[in-house]
Amino acid sequence: MARESFLSFSPPALSEAEVQAVMAVVKEGLWLSSGPKTKEFEQAFQKRVNAPAALALNSCTAGLHLAMAVHGVGEGDEMITTPLTFCATANVVEHLGGTTRLADIDRETLLIDPKEIERAITKKTKVITPVHYAGQPCDMDTINALAAKHGVKVVEDAAHCMPSKIGAKWVGDTENLATFSFYATKNITSGEGGMLTGSKALVDQARVLALHGLSRDAWNRFSKGASWKYDVVEPGYKYNLPDMASALGLAQLNRLDELYSARMAVVRLYENAFKDSKYLKLVRTRPDVQSSHHLFVILLNLDSLNIDRDQFIVELGERNIGSSVHYLPVHMLTYYAKKYGWTPESFPNAHWAFQRMVSLPLSSKMTTADAEDVVEAVDDICKKFAR
Ligand SMILES: Cc1ncc(COP(=O)(O)O)c(C=O)c1O
Repeated sequence: MARESFLSFSPPALSEAEVQAVMAVVKEGLWLSSGPKTKEFEQAFQKRVNAPAALALNSCTAGLHLAMAVHGVGEGDEMITTPLTFCATANVVEHLGGTTRLADIDRETLLIDPKEIERAITKKTKVITPVHYAGQPCDMDTINALAAKHGVKVVEDAAHCMPSKIGAKWVGDTENLATFSFYATKNITSGEGGMLTGSKALVDQARVLALHGLSRDAWNRFSKGASWKYDVVEPGYKYNLPDMASALGLAQLNRLDELYSARMAVVRLYENAFKDSKYLKLVRTRPDVQSSHHLFVILLNLDSLNIDRDQFIVELGERNIGSSVHYLPVHMLTYYAKKYGWTPESFPNAHWAFQRMVSLPLSSKMTTADAEDVVEAVDDICKKFAR
């Protein structure tokens, strides 16, 4: 029996704590832009992942853009990333006049394959941007060693990573620049928002660029006894996170352990239900990492079904189950395909995964009954369309 109400793919898990936190900023009414709450959020986040430094931003995209700018990416420079990411990872390089290079993924983990990165490195490579897809950390030892060998920088797209670990270290506990997202569907959210972490020197450079290139931030200029004086040291951007959003983000960060364990309960239920299925395959988790499980991706075994992925999603919808696809690979997006002459087969593993992947609903807000409804719907579709 299909469920009666629609299960949305990834609703935010908000509580009274978030409501009170945002209301307190509004009620106080002193400073709505980036001020004391944003400082507090930055400091709490930095501490939580043991980052050398942290900068709160109004998106993860802003963090990626600043990271590329800080590393001086411009015309003639190449940035290598995975085809299996959101367009933002590549778009920021295009904004700066740089060139996007892609390195195919591993079919088991869906993570960028370091061997493919090595094949893509040229004299023009300036940055490698591994994406910790679905919250599973990439093989950073190998990627960092490759970068050191070729004298290139690493920017980690950690949009999905709260909380992810490599061994005992949190993603973010590195001198590399790493960018996190607090977009509405992310594990913790501030509505829109992001955090850039990394070495103090790099984050300090990004901090100036994040607010027009101003020598001091607005809050410091408007507080009592402060001087109005400022200078612009280079033309920067407007990427600061306001206090209202920071209050929301901070309240979510304070609930991270609780939110993660609720998320993991759903993940375990799915894993147990699907691990022996002949109709689908689960993504392999690398040894010695903790995934944040931002997404729960299943890969359909198309040989045992007589429908394709798109029809599978329609069938889920008909059973009142929301779902999504992460992602339409970068090399298949019109702009990139045209500019670089890529065809779907240019990155065969990403294309292979794309044809089979479905992201099932996953949120800390889901109940056991919700997760069981998803399992029931998936099983029902598999049985109905078994080949
Ligand atoms: C892998 C990846 N990188 C970057 C982004 C951009 O994040 P934001 O929406 O916070 O700019 C996203 C957002 O979905 C993402 O999934």
